[in-house]
Amino acid sequence: MDCYGVIGYPIKHSVSPAMHNAAFKELGIDAIYTTFEVKPENLETAIKGAKALGIKGLNVTIPHKENVIRFSKPDEITSKIGAANTLKFGEEILAYNTDVYGAIKALEDAGVSVSGKIVLIVGAGGAARAIAFALTEKKATVIITNRTEQRGLKLAQDVRKYGECMFVPMKDLEKLDFDILINATPVGMNNYMPGKLPVDEKIIRGDLIVFDTVYNPMETPLIKLAKMRGCKIVYGIDMLVYQGAKSFEIWTGLTPPVNVMKRAALEALKR
Ligand SMILES: NC(=O)c1ccc[n+]([C@@H]2O[C@H](COP(=O)([O-])OP(=O)(O)OC[C@H]3O[C@@H](n4cnc5c(N)ncnc54)[C@H](OP(=O)(O)O)[C@@H]3O)[C@@H](O)[C@H]2O)c1
Repeated sequence: MDCYGVIGYPIKHSVSPAMHNAAFKELGIDAIYTTFEVKPENLETAIKGAKALGIKGLNVTIPHKENVIRFSKPDEITSKIGAANTLKFGEEILAYNTDVYGAIKALEDAGVSVSGKIVLIVGAGGAARAIAFALTEKKATVIITNRTEQRGLKLAQDVRKYGECMFVPMKDLEKLDFDILINATPVGMNNYMPGKLPVDEKIIRGDLIVFDTVYNPMETPLIKLAKMRGCKIVYGIDMLVYQGAKSFEIWTGLTPPVNVMKRAALEALKR
């Protein structure tokens, strides 16, 4: 039996095991996917240990997406982004970023075209990095805001090499004009900061498209408020399913059963 999993800290909220195990079952693959709680100081040991144990593939989540690059060989886009969420173990440890695909596919599925739009991303971690690079490639103008200004400034500087991007401090968001708001922080997530908004509620105008990458709960405080104000919504669960489906394809070379994966993820979320 082949073994796959997801490393993160915290990781208990993850619905990825349900999603991937359902896909293995659907395609008759003899494999199992589980969670591994890995503290930041143990990342290198965990990656080396996974290779030694013969683990075939790992997803990588908060807070390891940027650091994991140091212990793996990223493909071109992953190297440009500076954050990975998928590792494939073989002779080498190859690193990929499927959040890029997941975020763009979730937006496209919701009928959102980002070309020429101004997009405000809240956050400057691994998820924000992937989304910012993906959006500039699609010719959107990206504005980054982040709790830690230095980190937000660095991301804006990195993305500006490839497209239009700037940093705006959180206290100045009220003056901004933008079309799409994306939350790429864990604020609002169950077991982390439930019930909290990532930005001041004053900036949620009814004509915005609001995409919350947080998927647990599906109806986050941000999504609930945005719905009340009449915004168009893009759900984090769709990004999760598409990034997972792309990882599955990288690991197995097979077409992922996306509908089965989404059903399993939604069922796991209800539990
Ligand atoms: N739907 C999906 O498929 C999907 C995929 C990836 C990620 N996500 C979501 O994105 C979130 C971030 O993931 P990541 O991998 O980017 O994590 P990360 O690399 O650790 O970055 C976390 C980001 O959130 C900010 N943040 C954390 N706690 C905060 C708080 N209390 N108040 C304000 N900002 C805070 C951090 O700001 P500082 O720089 O100030 O620390 C940083 O910008 C995850 O929790 C997950 O819910 C969803």
